[in-house]
Amino acid sequence: MHWKLTFRVLFTATAIAGVVVSTRTSSGVEPAEANRVALRSVAEGATADGTSLANLGHKFVGVGGCSAANCHGGDGTKGTVGSEYSIWIQDDKHAEAYSVLYNETSQRMAKLLRLDKPAHQAALCLNCHAPQNDPPFSGDHAHASLSALLDGVSCEACHGAASDWLGPHVRHDWAKKSPEEKAALGFRETKNLWNRSKVCADCHVGEAGRDVNHDLYAAGHPRLFFEMSAFHANMPAHWDRNDDRGRTGPDRDKSSFEAKLWAIGQLASAEAALDLLVHRAENTRDDLVLRDQDAKYPSGETVAVWPEFAETGCFACHHNLDSPSWRQKRGYASRNAGGYPWGTWLFPILPTVVNSSGTSDLASADSPLSKLTREMARPYPNRKALVSNARDLQAILTKSATSLDSQQLTADQIAGWMKGVSAVGTSASQQSWDGATQSWLSLTAIHQGLSDVSGTSVQPSEKSQQINASLEKIRTHLEFSEGFDSPENFSADPATAISAELQKIHDVLE
Ligand code: HEC
Ligand code: HEC
Ligand code: HEC
Ligand code: HEC
Repeated sequence: MHWKLTFRVLFTATAIAGVVVSTRTSSGVEPAEANRVALRSVAEGATADGTSLANLGHKFVGVGGCSAANCHGGDGTKGTVGSEYSIWIQDDKHAEAYSVLYNETSQRMAKLLRLDKPAHQAALCLNCHAPQNDPPFSGDHAHASLSALLDGVSCEACHGAASDWLGPHVRHDWAKKSPEEKAALGFRETKNLWNRSKVCADCHVGEAGRDVNHDLYAAGHPRLFFEMSAFHANMPAHWDRNDDRGRTGPDRDKSSFEAKLWAIGQLASAEAALDLLVHRAENTRDDLVLRDQDAKYPSGETVAVWPEFAETGCFACHHNLDSPSWRQKRGYASRNAGGYPWGTWLFPILPTVVNSSGTSDLASADSPLSKLTREMARPYPNRKALVSNARDLQAILTKSATSLDSQQLTADQIAGWMKGVSAVGTSASQQSWDGATQSWLSLTAIHQGLSDVSGTSVQPSEKSQQINASLEKIRTHLEFSEGFDSPENFSADPATAISAELQKIHDVLE
């Protein structure tokens, strides 16, 4: 049941199309003087207890500091600007992220994990579901008030803990501050697409201190299936999507937005996953693994277990057995029979993005990605070797993102990505459902990007209609059957049918 939830998000990614043609315009962002005064007093109230917040790291002020009607709590009559709070509280699932910790699934998880606290009090869960500090795990949740926790994933979870910037951000000189000055106050800049994707990835992929590992999965946590384009399209926007598209990147070219968001989202998600991998490899605490029946799982942190099953494609282990199986017929790509398929969700399409940025060839056998994939296929991967490969790969991803962000994307370049993904996808689909789904999601997002750049969003060309028809067929092959949380029917037949549709897409683009 849980995976279907996320599924809805993935499979409604085509909502991107509906969203971007919206042409709502916004008025200026400068708050009126009255707002400034109101906000300033809130900010000063927050620091009035005499504690020097600078020494404590950045603290959350709470949505109460944002929700005044003349700040961010407007009624929407002026569009999104000024109504951010109202949109979040009414439509955004992030506002419920704390309350889900009381539901049956969460209670069962806490029991199965043998947490020493209920889920709604465990930092293990709160760091993602109701953070109160930034960095999230630097503070103690025990002292957070219920009203603060009730905010769930609130404004500051994405925009940065406001204890030090709430006051400054309503003064005249805020807009003149450099990104570095804002960051020093704890503000997280989200206009830049790399930063934005990294904000989401902190929770939707994970990071040190925020880790949905296999212990949590086995206890019942829904699988984290993050793909930036889909999640970005499905989050109810409390900003003007149309404006947003025009102010990102140096070219300020609205038409490049969807394609760039997809590409940079791919790079940033993989970068976040590598950080988490390094954290897991370097902080393993075998002593804490629950071999002892009576041991309590420490509710303040995730135990880094090695090797970590969540690094491996779930359906490599969680599948039915039959012999000879379609997997045996398919073969194991670069792995030995029985080798672990690593990173099946976030990495299959990555070489296409990186190679096109011209910074590196990730597909070559001696690239850090290939080395990492080989190392992680072993039952006990060498942690030192993989940490060094992961670091090398992170550097490449960061460089590629900078390079892509500074480019004015052309229709040819975007069509090149579609061709690349449809080509890679035909083999990725044979290997796993994850690879097939990533190919589908990527093509959906890039196709939108291509239509934007070629001006065919409103009046789809014949080619574009053919591509949509193929994407729709692929989608039907990817859906889980009723009552299943895994692709029980994904085998040779759907994989081959998907490959055939991907080939059609490839041919249409020739
Ligand atoms: C790394 C961050 C992270 C941690 C740690 C985490 N979660 Fe989550 N959780 C998420 C995200 C992100 C989602 C939404 C998944 C999606 O829809 O893609 C989620 C979804 C859920 C859901 C489903 C919500 C719904 O609407 O049905 C439950 C229940 C849940 N988490 C409980 C827990 C519990 C209990 C813990 C602690 C034992 C925990 N989570 C720890 C990030 C986290
Ligand atoms: C889950 C992440 C997330 C949460 C939670 C969140 N925001 Fe945002 N916010 C974004 C993103 C992404 C954007 C779009 C990029 C940008 O404009 O920086 C944005 C944009 C904004 C903008 C700029 C709008 C513009 O047109 O320039 C404001 C103001 C804002 N958010 C306020 C809030 C307030 C107030 C809350 C809480 C009620 C909130 N946000 C909660 C992610 C978030
Ligand atoms: C502080 C952690 C955190 C951050 C940062 C965060 N999210 Fe989430 N997100 C969550 C949790 C937890 C849930 C599950 C909430 C629930 O189901 O009640 C969630 C749910 C969602 C959902 C709904 C999923 C569903 O199954 O319906 C979308 C869409 C989403 N997030 C998009 C984003 C985007 C886009 C960003 C970045 C701009 C982002 N999130 C940043 C924690 C986070
Ligand atoms: C290396 C093999 C392996 C991989 C990879 C793996 N698991 Fe597991 N999983 C297990 C084992 C072993 C159990 C315990 C099964 C038991 O007790 O019968 C388990 C149990 C589970 C369960 C509990 C219940 C059940 O009835 O199946 C869930 C849910 C689960 N895993 C989800 C995942 C998810 C999600 C992933 C990918 C992120 C994943 N697993 C990857 C080996 C694996």
